[in-house]
Amino acid sequence: MTQHPAPPWLAERLHAAGGWVPFSTYMQWALHDPEHGAYGSGRLQVGPRGDFATSPSLGPDFAALLAPQLAQWLEAQPAQSPLALVETGPGEGHLALQLAGALAQGWPALAARTELVLVEPNPGMAVRQRQLLEHAPLPCRWCSFEALAANPVAGVMLAHEVLDALAVERIVWDGALWRHQGVALHGEPGAQPLLRLQAGEPLPPPALASLAALGLADPGPQRPPGWATELHGGLAPWLQRAGQGLASGQLLVVDYAHEAWRYYAPQRSNGTLMAYRQQQASDDPLGEPGHWDLTAHLCIETLLEAAEAGGWRPLGQRRQGEALLALGLAQRLHGLQTQGVGALPQLLSRREALLRLADPIALGDFRWLAFERPGPSPAGGAGAAISLFLQDPPPPW
Ligand SMILES: C[S@@+](CC[C@H](N)C(=O)[O-])C[C@H]1O[C@@H](n2cnc3c(N)ncnc32)[C@H](O)[C@@H]1O
Repeated sequence: MTQHPAPPWLAERLHAAGGWVPFSTYMQWALHDPEHGAYGSGRLQVGPRGDFATSPSLGPDFAALLAPQLAQWLEAQPAQSPLALVETGPGEGHLALQLAGALAQGWPALAARTELVLVEPNPGMAVRQRQLLEHAPLPCRWCSFEALAANPVAGVMLAHEVLDALAVERIVWDGALWRHQGVALHGEPGAQPLLRLQAGEPLPPPALASLAALGLADPGPQRPPGWATELHGGLAPWLQRAGQGLASGQLLVVDYAHEAWRYYAPQRSNGTLMAYRQQQASDDPLGEPGHWDLTAHLCIETLLEAAEAGGWRPLGQRRQGEALLALGLAQRLHGLQTQGVGALPQLLSRREALLRLADPIALGDFRWLAFERPGPSPAGGAGAAISLFLQDPPPPW
């Protein structure tokens, strides 16, 4: 078994906590601690030359395809009213910058009354976002959910690969009981302390009740002792806080997500937790804490329930590949052929990026889930629900 040395800052905290903390506390520290966390310190870099690539980090085509959808939603707001495009967890700021450019170019009247609002809790990331967005074509401001709740905006909110960075709880079946799984210190006295995953207290009755909806009330013989997975307790409070900042408009969540029956299938015996660094993937969450991205897929039923509890009305969902086809990916790909061969390397790299965005065994399998925060009287009313990416893709002939 791989040994995981505990860095001094983490060993100190684990000692102070009695030698064991729930996995969610560990994940929160490892990602979001302002000094030691991978995002909190700003250490993680998003992009093909950074730690991991996301759709917008591959180039401007993703934002260009998404822009008509956002414009449609923004246009459904009352005419003349000020609008906001709120991006939560903007990473490097790629998507915000590209969307601002696409809106300013394609919908100048709409752009003239739209501001960019960036919600980024990690100061280390916000520094780079400010640099990238310094000359963005829309006015920009950074804001916490709390500040936004004090003066809610109308418009569209995006959560692109953000909810997978919220700390998850781990649970493990011990053959008789469901228990919390946490991170503990171990090792010989005097030697460098090591980290390991260790079962803790049994789940209390309310937590057990929530397992029924996920098909886990009775683990059955197919889930042997040691079978472990994740629960997403951070989603409901996040969606509640996000909703308080949007007076009316839509939320688009984009992330890897599974239905509960797939997420919690017996054969998925160790959940979906993964670590990423310098374009490498690992299923070991305890190596070099604070230097790797840690991420867990979303469970669609848990997300829908948390969203509805937070006042969001579900509009629909699509896989990214289908959504992008509905928004014109095939036409964009075709259009590349008609461009001159002068910039061949750039054309080939855009072609590759477009194919990656829709590839069903890569980024195309991401889920797009749309929600609405019913406002006083948006001009589009229920019509806003009939969004481009929810329409059937054009036929292939
Ligand atoms: C995987 S990156 C995604 C970056 C960008 N959206 C993209 O797709 O390229 C996750 C981002 O979410 C931020 N983040 C983490 N927890 C957050 C939270 N609770 N609320 C808002 N943003 C958060 C991180 O600091 C980081 O900027």
